[in-house]
This record gives sequence, structure tokens and C-alpha cells, in this order.
Amino acid sequence: MNKLRIAVLASGRGSNLQSIIDSIEKGALNAQIACVVSDVESANALELARKRSIEALFLDPHGKTKEEYYSQIAGELEKRLVELVVMAGFMRIAPSSFTRKFAGRIVNIHPSLLPSFPGLHPQKQALEAGVKETGCTVHFVTEQLDGGPAILQARVPVLEGDSEETLSERILMQEHKILPKAIELIAEKRINIKGSEVLVNLEGFEDKWKVE
Ligand code: GRF
Repeated sequence: MNKLRIAVLASGRGSNLQSIIDSIEKGALNAQIACVVSDVESANALELARKRSIEALFLDPHGKTKEEYYSQIAGELEKRLVELVVMAGFMRIAPSSFTRKFAGRIVNIHPSLLPSFPGLHPQKQALEAGVKETGCTVHFVTEQLDGGPAILQARVPVLEGDSEETLSERILMQEHKILPKAIELIAEKRINIKGSEVLVNLEGFEDKWKVE
């Protein structure tokens, strides 16, 4: 089966990027990272890519309008025949021209159980709301911020005495599981988008998906 050509967009640490790389190396994820794009020159994600000889592109947003910047990103992705765009901690909001161009072909990982706590600092929002449970969501990106159809979610309990850091850390462990898994579901064409709903065909999938 052909490998799905993906681009990973990341602004910082890149631990979700690393989880994708690890899943590919284990043979659990049938994808190829065509490039990693960052808006931050010093992003660790770029360093992680270079270490694996993956093309690492710093695209400088300064002095460009949002439209110009995203049209530059789109151009670079198209040149590399990218089939799926993965936003993994990319701290910018895409304009609708970009989300429309890649409709059904961009996913994002967000550290809450959407539709709860969209936007910035979702872990802090969860603590402040006093919920007993939060988690993370992989969803398709649409014009609506953190509002596109969800593909996979994982639940994480909020524990007594949790700080934003401890809770974020526990959620992150789950992010690293569901993001590569969602990409593999897309690679295997097991996902169908019906309006705001995502239909996932999991038949025989869990048996072969063995990532710890
Ligand atoms: C993750 O928590 C992700 O959900 C959020 O930003 C963080 C990025 O972490 N959007 P990393 O750069 O993948 O380590």
C-alpha cells in the first residue's frame, strides 16, 4: 500500500511529531513525513526532523499578512505533494482560504475533549471549570476554531491536586497515542466525513494497531 504523504506543522517542542515518527518507525503507521514546517526558527520540532533526515522548513511569518503566510505554506505543501496536513502544536489560526483548500485533509490535536474548552490553555480551562474528566481530541480543521468534526478522543481523569503541568503531562501521553492512530485510520481510508460527523470503520483495526 502507498504511504500517505503528510506534513507536520509544529511551533515548539514537537513531542507529537516524535510520536508520529516513532509510529512510522515501528511500522504501525503507513505514512511518510514529506516535511516538517515551523513558524519558529528555534522550534525543537525542526531539530527532531533534521535528526531523522526529514526536511525541516522554517517559514518566517514576519512581515506577511496571514493570507500571504498561509499561501506560502500551501505552496510548499503542494510542491511536496502533501496529502494530509497535521497540525501538532502549531500555534497559529489558519485563514479560511487555507482550511478550504485542504478541506478534509487537515487534522489538529487539541488537549481537551472538544467541544469543551476550545482555544488557548484548555488544560487550565478544565481545572478552572472543576471538571472531573478532560482529555484530548484529534479533529479535522475547519474555519471554526477547534470546531471541526472529531476523529478520535481519549479521556483523562482530573486528579486531586493536579496543576496545569501535571494534567497537561497526563493528557500529552494520550495525545501521543491518538494522533498517530487517527493518521493511520486516514491512511487506511477508514474515515468518512458526513457533514459534521465522522464515520470511522474500526473493523479489524484494533488487532493490528499495536502501539504502546
Ligand atoms: C500539545 O499539547 C498539543 O495538543 C497542543 O500543543 C501541544 C504541543 O506539544 N496543541 P508538542 O509540541 O507536540 O510537544
